[in-house]
Amino acid sequence: MNNFDFYNPTKILFGEGKISEIAKEIPQDSKVMVIYGGGSIKKNGVYDQVADALENHSWTAFGGIEPNPRYETCMKAIKKIQTEDVDFLLAVGGGSVYDGTKFIAAGAMFDGEPWDILKRGAKIKKALPLAGVLTLPATGSEMNSGAVITREETQEKLPFGHPLLFPKFSVLDPSVTASLSYRQAANGVVDAFVHVMEQYMTYPSGNHLQARFAESILLTLIEDGPGYYNDPANYEKAANLMWSATMALNGLIGAGVPNDWSTHMIGHELTAFHEIDHARTLAIVLPGTWSVLKSDKREQLIQYAERVWGITSASDEDKIEQAIKKTEEFFNSLGIKTRLSDYDVDETTIRKIVKRFEERGWHLGEKQKVGPGNVEKILKSRA
Ligand code: NZQ
Ligand code: ZN
Repeated sequence: MNNFDFYNPTKILFGEGKISEIAKEIPQDSKVMVIYGGGSIKKNGVYDQVADALENHSWTAFGGIEPNPRYETCMKAIKKIQTEDVDFLLAVGGGSVYDGTKFIAAGAMFDGEPWDILKRGAKIKKALPLAGVLTLPATGSEMNSGAVITREETQEKLPFGHPLLFPKFSVLDPSVTASLSYRQAANGVVDAFVHVMEQYMTYPSGNHLQARFAESILLTLIEDGPGYYNDPANYEKAANLMWSATMALNGLIGAGVPNDWSTHMIGHELTAFHEIDHARTLAIVLPGTWSVLKSDKREQLIQYAERVWGITSASDEDKIEQAIKKTEEFFNSLGIKTRLSDYDVDETTIRKIVKRFEERGWHLGEKQKVGPGNVEKILKSRA
């Protein structure tokens, strides 16, 4: 087992009706800014629940955070904060709203041009306190300190993070997923699934408990994912999905084990160039990452085949092939297409992504093998 530090200060308020409890978690003298997306919370009653809960607080609102939140929009929110003396941020939405809020929290207190946080990894020294109400189980942003921001102008999508950006609390009320579209429900299942994989599908490191945690999340997603996808109003399924997605990326299962994350970084490029939903980019890339790096991930692929899919009576090679196939079929069963051609992505984009890996000197993955050469192989295998 590798050495690790594990730190997660986010308080979780889980269950139906929990939005009503947020007021007591936010200092009474705070000036709160409620940050939200394109308006789904105004249609499904979440905005009203938040407004009711904050009736004795002073608060303002900022809407319009896009899916794949834009740097340009976040900068507008930062301006508003500075003119209105806001000192507490409340994200109400999915991963994009949470991520945008994290960037706003850091950017509002940053000395200099906030883009440097993303582009040059400039150090965050201060951030406004933030918390949130989650409406889409998927990213884990509700209980972690990372975020991903897109700059429209340059078609760049870059991650950043800092411990100051852990939400103070997050409300996880599974009943708010009832209004999700099939597309967003499916995206959430797949994103959470691939988060587990980025921390599981590497090489054995003797951390048996982490492997079992990871497998339990995968099995829950496989068992409850289809029912939730067909009916996001099913409270029991939604509750299991929501907690699984949070546990998949709150730092717990990735502690003390090698991490990969190359599928995510390739996926971000597909979103940056083609605006493909985050989870869909992962569903395209993951089978390619596994096929190209099969020998490096061999033991874990076999373990996954046996323990998660119950494939025990086959040769090791067959176990690996079947596990890759079953994973792709699982994504397809949720209505998610898994080939670049399904999204009209051709050779030109592959070349652009390879060039970006070259320019950035990126060699990613648990063994730093995902450089320009393997990225090209991975993407070509997904044509
Ligand atoms: O904008 P609104 O009107 O809120 O509508 C959203 C949006 O159109 C809608 N939605 C959310 N909750 C809803 C709802 N519609 C009806 N009912 C509800 N209850 O769903 C659409 C997509 O929302 P978005 O927040 O973009 O989705 P998701 O949660 O999948 O977040 C994706 C973003 O998170 C980043 C991704 O890169 C992407 O930018 N990620 C963040 C991570 C992190 N911070 O740790 C890790 C992830 O790997 C991921 O990279
Ligand atoms: Zn993700």
